[in-house]
Amino acid sequence: MLSGCRRALSAVGQNVRQLHRAAPLASDKLFVHRHTADNNPDTPFEFTADSLKRAQMIIQNYPEGHERAAVMPLLDLAQRQHGWLPISALHAVADLLKMPKMRVYEVATFYTMYNREPVGKYFIQICTTTPCIVNGVGCDVILDCIQKELGIHLGETTPDGKFSLLEVECLGACVNAPMVQINDNFYEDLTVEDMTRIINDLKQDKIPKPGPQSGQGHRFSCEPKGGLTCLNTEPRGPGFGIRADL
Ligand code: FES
Repeated sequence: MLSGCRRALSAVGQNVRQLHRAAPLASDKLFVHRHTADNNPDTPFEFTADSLKRAQMIIQNYPEGHERAAVMPLLDLAQRQHGWLPISALHAVADLLKMPKMRVYEVATFYTMYNREPVGKYFIQICTTTPCIVNGVGCDVILDCIQKELGIHLGETTPDGKFSLLEVECLGACVNAPMVQINDNFYEDLTVEDMTRIINDLKQDKIPKPGPQSGQGHRFSCEPKGGLTCLNTEPRGPGFGIRADL
């Protein structure tokens, strides 16, 4: 029917409007689940005794009747135990919290911190949001460096399973941009030399010191690189500025 219409339109002239198509999905990951041999409801996953004990402690932090609020820490717990989250792990969390599986899927597919596919031993998440683009050398240069050093692109894992690379939104270290998160560590104030050194250390299973890489005498955390410009005097004591007769 459709092709018949288009043929007819073609016959009357060349100004045929193209059918509108949705833009291709630009994300690294498709946010839907398809059963695969390694990721299906029968994929073995069971909370260990230690994890179960920890899960109960987490659940107790929430008021009675609101235990479902523990879904995020429990997904994190399952991921730390298994390395990633097969759909069977999502079901285990749903069972533990007595909540619909769909509610767990919604959370696990929304946040990039949940890995629904296996990742490498060193999971590099590079922030490519605006401050990381414009600060320092910029995240594009850092991304090129990582891809060149590892021979992989965004969303891929090295053949030896050692490194995975993912693009993520702001990780909350914008003052120290550009930055990457590798497993649980942040590496900030990055230059190409820093990134190359970090990757080479990790290739030898040496964990580089996390935090700002801007060197001695620069910054310990996120204070200004040129030194403090405010809050640089002793704190005033209680009652400062209060009228004496009060
Ligand atoms: Fe990169 Fe915020 S923009 S950490």
